Amino acid sequence: MLELKDVHVVHKARSGGLFSRDRVHALTAADLTVSPGETVGVVGESGCGKSTLARVLVGLQRPTQGSVTFRGKDLWALKEGERRALIGSSVGMIFQDPSTALNRRLPVRQVLRDPLNVHRRGTPAQRDARVRELLDLVGLPAGAADALPSQLSGGQRQRVAVARALALEPDLVVADEPTSALDVSVRAQILNLLLDLKERLGLALVFVSHDIQTVRRMSDRVVTMYLGRIVEQAPARAVPLGARHPYTRALFSATPGLISPINPIPLVGVVPSATRPPSGCPFRTRCWRADHLCAEDWPAAQTEGDHLFHCHHPVAAGATDVELIQERA
Ligand SMILES: Nc1ncnc2c1ncn2[C@@H]1O[C@H](COP(=O)(O)OP(=O)(O)OP(=O)(O)O)[C@@H](O)[C@H]1O
Ligand SMILES: [Mg+2]
Repeated sequence: MLELKDVHVVHKARSGGLFSRDRVHALTAADLTVSPGETVGVVGESGCGKSTLARVLVGLQRPTQGSVTFRGKDLWALKEGERRALIGSSVGMIFQDPSTALNRRLPVRQVLRDPLNVHRRGTPAQRDARVRELLDLVGLPAGAADALPSQLSGGQRQRVAVARALALEPDLVVADEPTSALDVSVRAQILNLLLDLKERLGLALVFVSHDIQTVRRMSDRVVTMYLGRIVEQAPARAVPLGARHPYTRALFSATPGLISPINPIPLVGVVPSATRPPSGCPFRTRCWRADHLCAEDWPAAQTEGDHLFHCHHPVAAGATDVELIQERA
């Protein structure tokens, strides 16, 4: 359905001042496909490029290099109107913070009608009916249509944001940290809503979150990013013990799972900057397995079935955290 090939996003550095030549490598050589109906989870530390990837997927961010193909069409070869018509009606996006993502001065009815108006869907009566249907779909009462977003709770607002993302019956929804601005008590409700809707509507879902255990539980595939690179794509059932990239193992070892005790694999060494990424593998400055080879080349993808990783010295599948900690000693 959606395919990124060798996608790069390079920003001008925000901090560098007016005449700075600093460039931020937010996304580097990303290859990713999303198939109909699948759930892809994206994990990685702050600043590694998750939101940039999400914005590329929904056509909000133009790659500085590489191609984004949606249903066989090269998005950025289309005219702007064609691109918006194609992606705007087929891909929905849910942002982190529902209070800034929704226009506070518009009642919920207008928020939900807006995409229907823009894409000229149905008659006015059909649009009203669709608004009622959408509210029902996300578990809000019909009366919520008249409320302003500011009169709703955070969880209710995020339900409105979900409803808006679904307004045009998309095939793909991209959710960038959809629960991180919410109270812990309502996070699970929104996640369950997303999963339920995904099942009922047959959506594909790309889900970005800091909560990597949730990502693992929700996803079919887990994508690990490090400093702008996709370093591993593993079937969720294989994570964490079957992950082969040292960074994926370190990331999961630092968060408590349900069954396993936490044995964080310590990472020492320089945390690199996205303005000056290291040569070769960007993780090498913190990786206990790195050698001269890792400084020379970015490792080509190795695949094992539907599992893909970029590493010169992958860890053994099934190695425990304790074994990996001993290995680095
Ligand atoms: N518009 C921009 N201009 C300059 N730099 C940017 C811009 N957007 C993002 N960046 C930089 O690009 C890199 C990737 O940012 P991005 O927001 O994609 O990371 P992230 O993984 O979503 O982080 P977080 O987990 O904190 O949300 C960061 O170094 C960030 O500072
Ligand atoms: Mg982000």
